[in-house]
Amino acid sequence: MTEKSGNDITVLLRSALRRLPGPVSIVTTHDPAGGGPAGMVASAVIPVSMEPPSMLVAVNRQSSCHACIENAGRFCINLLGTEQRELVAPFSTASLRQSRFETGGWEFADNIPFLSGAIANLFCKVENTLVHGSHELFIGDVYEVRLADGSEADPLGWMEGGFARFGSLD
Ligand SMILES: Cc1cc2nc3c(=O)[nH]c(=O)nc-3n(C[C@H](O)[C@H](O)[C@H](O)COP(=O)(O)O)c2cc1C
Repeated sequence: MTEKSGNDITVLLRSALRRLPGPVSIVTTHDPAGGGPAGMVASAVIPVSMEPPSMLVAVNRQSSCHACIENAGRFCINLLGTEQRELVAPFSTASLRQSRFETGGWEFADNIPFLSGAIANLFCKVENTLVHGSHELFIGDVYEVRLADGSEADPLGWMEGGFARFGSLD
């Protein structure tokens, strides 16, 4: 196989990642300097370990949320259901940043916003970080979990640049 240039790899990787289905979450935190709540859509959300219970989020260092997570030292992963897909545009579009917490049903726990109707809210305290290129990985120990009760979870997915739904094969 001929070696490819960095550019070729990036183009190919982007195409490959369009085929990688991902969950859709909104990662929230707050700006301890008085800037209020902050949040962004993230698919790079990974369970790390159960001992201790911990989660990882990969956050672009240019996003407005990045410094807030760094300074607050805490964040909440709000796992979205298909019914919450209208929140994805504001929480992933810079020009809609001001309207992010206007709809959806947000509550606060120690200043950290959480979406009360989400499939689950995972509250994390940052314990480890790693900068790699454009992104910083935040590993947080989970200190509280809220689970939506009642109805069966219908997690929102993302694939081929659009919304997807995860379904059972059985
Ligand atoms: C489905 C989807 C998944 C995303 N996943 C991530 C992610 O895991 N990490 C990340 O840094 N940005 C991710 N983004 C992009 C951010 O949501 C977007 O750049 C961010 O909200 C911009 O924030 P700002 O306008 O406040 O700077 C994703 C966007 C979409 C639509």
